[in-house]
Amino acid sequence: MKNKDMQNVLTESRNKLKIVFDSLQEEIVSINKTYHIVSANRAFQKNVGLSFGEIVGKSCFSNKSVLSSGCCKETEASLAKHVQKVFASGLPQNYLDIAKDKDGQTKYRRFSCLPIIDDDGKVFELVIVARDITERMQQSKKIKFLNKKLQDTVNQVQAKNEELKNTLETLKTTQAQILHSEKMASVGQLAAGVAHEINNPIGFVSSNLRTLSDYQNDINKLLEHYRQLIANLKGAAKDLPFYIGEKIDQIATLEKTIDIDFILDDVMNLVGESKDGTERIKKIVLDLKDFAHPGEDKIYAADINKGIESTLNVVWNEIKYKAVVTKDYRDLPLVECYPQQLNQVFANLLVNAAHAIEKQGEINIATRALDGKVEIKISDTGAGIPKENLSKIFDPFFTTKEVGKGTGLGLNISYKIIEGHNGTIDVESTVGKGTTFTIRIPISRVVV
Ligand SMILES: Nc1ncnc2c1ncn2[C@@H]1O[C@H](COP(=O)(O)OP(=O)(O)OP(=O)(O)O)[C@@H](O)[C@H]1O
Ligand SMILES: [Mg+2]
Repeated sequence: MKNKDMQNVLTESRNKLKIVFDSLQEEIVSINKTYHIVSANRAFQKNVGLSFGEIVGKSCFSNKSVLSSGCCKETEASLAKHVQKVFASGLPQNYLDIAKDKDGQTKYRRFSCLPIIDDDGKVFELVIVARDITERMQQSKKIKFLNKKLQDTVNQVQAKNEELKNTLETLKTTQAQILHSEKMASVGQLAAGVAHEINNPIGFVSSNLRTLSDYQNDINKLLEHYRQLIANLKGAAKDLPFYIGEKIDQIATLEKTIDIDFILDDVMNLVGESKDGTERIKKIVLDLKDFAHPGEDKIYAADINKGIESTLNVVWNEIKYKAVVTKDYRDLPLVECYPQQLNQVFANLLVNAAHAIEKQGEINIATRALDGKVEIKISDTGAGIPKENLSKIFDPFFTTKEVGKGTGLGLNISYKIIEGHNGTIDVESTVGKGTTFTIRIPISRVVV
């Protein structure tokens, strides 16, 4: 190609390049080492408000800087710093410029300062490409803001959900506890009612048994006389009419047939046993009454030893085949408490102790007064509680018992009752050895 042709091609190519640069939104300006503008595209011209002719050859970073008309002072200073760096290092510099425009609006511009390197590897010119990304930044800020708002809403919904879940759980627990307490109250009422109803008939049965025993003593005395008379008559049988002798023989035969000696002996045994039975029933009635404390939902100065004893008798059926019960009751002052509630606690601990014993074991009950408190220890030689369960046993619904045998509320309610008495309930347990529950309640107190 001839020189002239070559020049034409180059001119054409440069013109095309200029058209491309001019059509870009990015502002493009190239400057030489003396910081004078060599070239600038249309976007740059528009931004600084000057024509190409007015721009080319002008100084960039001087008092009469061309940039000053398009940039604020801070942007210009920062740009100058980066331009210097490119000339010094030969490496491109990119940075985000945040500045206020003349209307006070925040502008975001991404600047790229790119070195133009000659054949010797030296930087002889530099191109600055500036892109206004304010809109994009604002949008992404908006999106970020909306995202945050959305996340806040999601968090709030999640928190509300959690709150609802907790409320539902609390409601369920409270409902179960109320049901349990109502059940206990009805059991108490039932026990009190049964005790009351049994009291009357057992009263007259035992009074009748006493009368029966007196009558029998009288009959025995009378029979003794009859027998003496018959023995005397037998001696004088030949002087008596025949039919009397016959009657005496009939009586002797009947006495033998019915074994009158055994009957006389056994009647007194039976009456005695029945009297024992009624005494036991009377005691059970008393225990039931003590256990139930009908209508006592107020504070009462109660004998804790007596409460434990009566409770033990009420739950005796659960215990008697499993454990020997040893007791160490010390003298206790009367304790201001809700006796019926405390009896519920004792009943639950005693039944739990019996359930923990697989075949045969021991339950020990010990009470003592200590530092203004009454201490009750209920120990068993049962299976014990594994360490990982110790922190859970007072939780509502925690049970290791099979379905239908335990609801897992006993200890939870016991804990609440003791807490309501300003007392404490503690547990110590060794797997394979047994468990001890220790309750301490103040002797004198004001309840909730
Ligand atoms: N003396 C004990 N020995 C071993 N484990 C015990 C003892 N007392 C309580 N536990 C454990 O604690 C759990 C919770 O006892 P809790 O009395 O609260 O409920 P439960 O006896 O299972 O059911 P219920 O509501 O009928 O009382 C029991 O299931 C058992 O695993
Ligand atoms: Mg229980």
